[in-house]
Amino acid sequence: MSERRSAQWYGGDDRNSYIHRAWMRRGFPADAFDGERPHIAIANTASDLTPCNAHLNEVGRSVADGIHRAGGIALNLPVVSLGETQVKPTAMLWRNMAAMAMEEMFRANPIDGLVLLGGCDKTIPALLMAAASVDLPAVVVPGGPMLTGTFRGTPLGCGTDVWKLSEEVRAGTLSSAEFQRSESSMIRSRGHCNTMGTASTMGLLAEVLGMTLPGIAGTPAPDSRLLEAAHATGVLAVDLVDQDRRPSAVMTRESFHNAIVALAALGGSTNAVVHLLAIAGRLGIPLTQDDFDRIGAGVPLLVDLQPAGRFLMDDLYRAGGLHAVLAEVQDLLDPTAITVIGEPLVSALGVAQVYDREVIRPRADPLQMEAGIAVLYGNLAPDGALVKPAAATPALLQHRGPAVVFDSVEDLKARLDDPSLEVTPDSVLVLRGCGPKGYPGMPEVSNMPLPAKLLAEGVRDMVRICDGRMSGTAYGTVVLHVAPEAAAGGPLAKVRTGDPIVLDLENRRLDVDVPAEEWAAREPSAEAARAYAAPARGWEKLYVDTVNQANTGADLDFLLGASGDKVARESH
Ligand code: FES
Repeated sequence: MSERRSAQWYGGDDRNSYIHRAWMRRGFPADAFDGERPHIAIANTASDLTPCNAHLNEVGRSVADGIHRAGGIALNLPVVSLGETQVKPTAMLWRNMAAMAMEEMFRANPIDGLVLLGGCDKTIPALLMAAASVDLPAVVVPGGPMLTGTFRGTPLGCGTDVWKLSEEVRAGTLSSAEFQRSESSMIRSRGHCNTMGTASTMGLLAEVLGMTLPGIAGTPAPDSRLLEAAHATGVLAVDLVDQDRRPSAVMTRESFHNAIVALAALGGSTNAVVHLLAIAGRLGIPLTQDDFDRIGAGVPLLVDLQPAGRFLMDDLYRAGGLHAVLAEVQDLLDPTAITVIGEPLVSALGVAQVYDREVIRPRADPLQMEAGIAVLYGNLAPDGALVKPAAATPALLQHRGPAVVFDSVEDLKARLDDPSLEVTPDSVLVLRGCGPKGYPGMPEVSNMPLPAKLLAEGVRDMVRICDGRMSGTAYGTVVLHVAPEAAAGGPLAKVRTGDPIVLDLENRRLDVDVPAEEWAAREPSAEAARAYAAPARGWEKLYVDTVNQANTGADLDFLLGASGDKVARESH
């Protein structure tokens, strides 16, 4: 066995190693520092202000028990936590900050390996980005989804049903009092959102990438099997360090191929695109948006979960879980991609069974034949834009209609329900100023609400175009992640109300039908430019100055790639 990394702190008999050991004694036996036992940090995003992750302290205790049982030293390491529903202006503004802070603390501390505890939307992406850049042996325990709550006898999909119920209020078909009454039914238990939103998607994809103990992703947060799996993960973490199996050996180009296949078969969140691109960027893997369209194109949608379908995450677990889904598309998976246990991902799929064919459809009878995320290009999106056909109205995916343009979220809120707004069901709602730089932070606003007067007429979907993101729990014919964004000089800034917009999914096009000469001569909207106030200081300034566009993962330009686990100098 080569020298453990932690021995660089604790080995020897000089003053510095004395200091490193002495301050860590606090109940540890002397052999904790003899270089034999791996020191494993449990990077824990538990926080009372991240309600989806609040149970991770208990999960961490099971991980620690497993680490101790296998002879390691377990160390709780609280890291930056992001509560999707709590932080303003948008949790995505802080994903890269969380990842950067995690990376630096993983590198700066005397640890040999990592167990990563996450759940809420940005936490698993940030943990994986950090682990990829520091490249210490690491394994994820996804915190798991919450149980299903019910309202008026009907299951509630958290997130998705908030949008639906609030639209019902605006349409006058649900009273405000009833809407408020549903609030206490929405979150039934510990755990993250129970639809196939971003948290569920990223927890499952962490396993497909190979970064969890096989078979644990999707275990509901209150299920005792999650704690059993956490204990086993602690045991595994010690072996992982002994084997020196690092994220760069697990998360390979082949693993990302499998993640894209799984994303399509699961009907996962569009946010997974920007997160997987960012993680791949940390590993130096040349993944592109086009890979999502190319690899996902022939993958059928097999999982009938909200927001695209009917069921929720505990139904998926009951029906056989992730492995049962992957077994249906095993021929599309790369058989060489390995997991943290050193075995191919596909080797775990032989025993998978489907127990409910309503929830997990057979390959021969999918919900949709082609479920991948489509990438559109055109004079409105030179660097691409996404649309998730599984969540869209099929008839709207080939559409031509006049633009109704909003310069900011505030502009949208001020004018959307104005009875004098000139808008028809054929109009295309365009919202700009919501990209990484423009907002800043690329919020989940692309699934903009529909105008009240159209809702009252029974309209439930329209083509919407935005340079922001969309909640993984949302639905509709939404073209999003338009790149470059308006605030970075993208053509979205030049669109005017009334311009004909053409969405052509079949040919993967998104264009404004304005004569080329006129379009080339047109100036960006001064009104839109006024909406982007450049931040003067702090993280927001650093972010706006250095953030990349959505089509490459919206990471900071200087965080691409890895710095490894080496620290150059002593601490004094
Ligand atoms: Fe945390 Fe949805 S708000 S996962």
